[in-house]
Amino acid sequence: MSSYRVTVLPGDGTGKEVMLESMKILDIFNKFSPLSFDITQIPCGGEHYLDTGEEWPQGSFEFCRDESDAILLGAIGWPNAKLPNGDNAGGQCILGLRSGLDLYANIRPVKLYEGIRHKVHGQFNDIWNPELVDLVLIRENTEGLYHSLLRRSARAAIGKKDPPLEINSFPGLEGEVAWDPRPISRSGSERVIRFGFELAKRRESSFGKTQKLTCVDKSNVLRGCRLFRKIFDEISEDYPEIQTSKAFIDAFTMWLVRDPEDLDVVVLPNMFGDIATDLASVLQGGLGMAASANIGDNHMLFEPVHGSSPKYAGKGVVNPIAAISSLQLMFEYLGVRNNDSNATQCSIILDSAISSHLSIGKLMTYDLGGNASTSDVGDSISQICKESLISHYSVD
Ligand code: IPM
Ligand code: MN
Repeated sequence: MSSYRVTVLPGDGTGKEVMLESMKILDIFNKFSPLSFDITQIPCGGEHYLDTGEEWPQGSFEFCRDESDAILLGAIGWPNAKLPNGDNAGGQCILGLRSGLDLYANIRPVKLYEGIRHKVHGQFNDIWNPELVDLVLIRENTEGLYHSLLRRSARAAIGKKDPPLEINSFPGLEGEVAWDPRPISRSGSERVIRFGFELAKRRESSFGKTQKLTCVDKSNVLRGCRLFRKIFDEISEDYPEIQTSKAFIDAFTMWLVRDPEDLDVVVLPNMFGDIATDLASVLQGGLGMAASANIGDNHMLFEPVHGSSPKYAGKGVVNPIAAISSLQLMFEYLGVRNNDSNATQCSIILDSAISSHLSIGKLMTYDLGGNASTSDVGDSISQICKESLISHYSVD
């Protein structure tokens, strides 16, 4: 029986509400599966900062680093919760972990479920076909346009300062100028691109279908992207069995909505990945459905792609499925990393519970066209998980 240490960071606003539902489900797996979880919750985020003057209790970063097999995060960000330097309070708990734990691959699957309709022009329609669309976007997670903020947040998480880069003027620009560097390194690109090829290989063997890896960049304009694409071409030589394609980010956004069936695994630099994954969530039924895994060589963190939605906080109405699917990704990656077939089985059970819940179609939150509450959805999926765990693991 495998036992895993899970650190839970509910964070701000609706992050706390969706985390409650994930915890209900984790509790069911703790009781009815062969896995066991030792769970530690840590309060954190912008609201916590306004209440206490700190983003999370001292030692939290070290706890995530040294005492956790996996981390689950709700959402970070709260109105008016700003650090003295103007950064959003709570950055240590998300960007600090992504950078400080070297979680270089941000995996954002775009998997469609039967029963989900697409909200466009305020109406629900069947637009993208679940049988045709199953892709994964991999966002580089430690450098690019986020590099300075990531580094600042990671340094702050261990109580250190990060001196700002000095550039005092830009030729041709006058008056007030703010700027963000966008470094893209060989080693940072190599590891995430290789991760993309390995994921494509894994999908090839589990789906029994050829997979394609698409490199998305803006190498017609940007030097960092030229390096990214050059490294993509080099690494592709090591994976002759994986098809490849390349796209510029502007054209890619068009193809993503128009021909998503042509995509399998996609690798993108940090900011392009941030933007493209919000767009891609529309294919899944919206941000309430979009889950993510932040994976490094030694650590992993799972979180919904959505934020803390202050407007809906406290109402109990947001969709918890993005958070619940992030828990499913946690089971999946515990399985991959530890070669643990029980964890893999739990990820399959949770995925099919989400799928059955949605195909019944009775308890949907407002974003999917229903009026169920956050906890109605969590209760329904927990109940389905409990029944399938009992039937799967019962000895008769
Ligand atoms: C995301 C979010 C974060 C990001 C914010 C909350 C810092 O938008 O996970 O996509 O920009 O990476
Ligand atoms: Mn984002």
